[in-house]
Amino acid sequence: MDPDRVVIFDTTLRDGEQSPGISLNTAEKLEIAHQLARLGVDVIEAGFPIASNGDFEAVRAIAREVHGPVIAGLARAHAADIERAAEAVRDAERPRIHTFISTSDIHIEHQLQSTREDVKGSARAAVAHAKSFVDDVEFSPMDATRAEVEFTAEVLQIALDEGATTINIPDTVGYSTPDEYAAFLTRLYQLVPDLRGAVLSTHCHDDLGLAVANSLAGIRAGARQVECAINGIGERAGNASLEEIVMLLHTRAADLGFTTGVQTREIARTSRMVSRLTGYPVQPNKAVVGRNAFAHESGIHQDGVLKHRQTYEIMDATTVGLEGNDLVLGKHSGRHALKSALAELGFDVDGPALNTAFKRFKELADRKKQVTAMDLEALVTDELRDQLRSYTLEWFDVDVSNRRPPHARVSIRTPDGDEALGDFTGDGPVDAIFRAINAATKREARLREFRIDAVTGGQDALGEASVVLELAGQSAAGQGVSTDIIEAAAQAYVRALSNAERKVHAAAAEHEPEVELTGAP
Ligand code: KIV
Ligand code: ZN
Repeated sequence: MDPDRVVIFDTTLRDGEQSPGISLNTAEKLEIAHQLARLGVDVIEAGFPIASNGDFEAVRAIAREVHGPVIAGLARAHAADIERAAEAVRDAERPRIHTFISTSDIHIEHQLQSTREDVKGSARAAVAHAKSFVDDVEFSPMDATRAEVEFTAEVLQIALDEGATTINIPDTVGYSTPDEYAAFLTRLYQLVPDLRGAVLSTHCHDDLGLAVANSLAGIRAGARQVECAINGIGERAGNASLEEIVMLLHTRAADLGFTTGVQTREIARTSRMVSRLTGYPVQPNKAVVGRNAFAHESGIHQDGVLKHRQTYEIMDATTVGLEGNDLVLGKHSGRHALKSALAELGFDVDGPALNTAFKRFKELADRKKQVTAMDLEALVTDELRDQLRSYTLEWFDVDVSNRRPPHARVSIRTPDGDEALGDFTGDGPVDAIFRAINAATKREARLREFRIDAVTGGQDALGEASVVLELAGQSAAGQGVSTDIIEAAAQAYVRALSNAERKVHAAAAEHEPEVELTGAP
């Protein structure tokens, strides 16, 4: 392989999914994984199979159905975790087990309540056990950047002796600076010459806003795998953002000299899909994929760009897929046109799914003159969410006036197929409908976040609502899309409620992660 080719290891579905409030079901994870494969990432870390049955099922489905990238499952340095990960990735074309244990004293003493000797023993046993299932084994010394480099080196030598093929150096708490991170990697190469026979990897968190800078410093120090997530999602402040690191290597290729296998034109769509399905918005000024990333506000800048784009643009919006897609359908477009438009967008929709998509498309085309690629994406992703929904919104009425408080009535279909009615007089129309849904379902859900955005510009734009709520200690997100923003909000609320309820049931059935997963990343 080209020595300057950087392996892109995407952890959106594992570290990214650990962001508070994100709860993706298997269908949603599969959709993202297919898109990641289209994007051309080299490795998909599909989840943490021991964490829950849902995680296991999703990793297994991705391993079976997504072709191209290596499919990795995460495991602590415990036999049971490794066996579960091995089973989940078994059917992948190229399976990988990623196992980890902390090497920093603060983690060893306080979290693992163990000793350095035990950590060495666990690392040895874990890599050997993983190796008995797959050839491709990645090992991470968690919290490495706050650990003693000599001790970390000893543990890495053990992992390499047992056959680890990738060694990943996590800046777990996002504490490092680029110089320190590069120096840490350089020192490891000196202390562990065998590292040259493995792929060295970066895994940088963004607590101080340095995740991408640290990843680049790692590459320059010899790393050839970068762990990153779409839109930079992940624990706390998140991970290095995939789109930023990829576009950094692409835009500055002449000076840096590194390449990746990413199809950059798929970046914007992947970002939108992840944002939609996770309910995590992309800030407008976010590098590469923010809606203002290529917008010029000041007169001087606009003047410059009109005369010559490169006066104020270092990247071309078409390179990341933000422009250049002129696919437009209207109300006279038929089923065949819709199917081929969806295929062009990478959605393989047929049979009953095509019928549903066509019905939604027609409803939209009646209200909106031009249906764009972004509208279609929003509709298809919206439909995906129906597959595991336990409650459905049947109908609603909202009376709004500025002379009396708004009143909402809703009809909800319960998971058992019954119709439940509820009504409420709230502070505003959205508040009234949310509380009417609580009344119908007899659930005491509390709203934590609510957002509404337009999918495209224009008066007839589709509205996209996003809700995060909390139910019995579990928080969950939901989204809804409609030209009617009250309907979009109600859909989002019902979906968030369904997701939260599934989490409550799963936690009760499995005595889930919070309790059992000590030492989790
Ligand atoms: O941040 C971290 O240390 C992790 C490891 C599991 C790689 O996510
Ligand atoms: Zn992490």
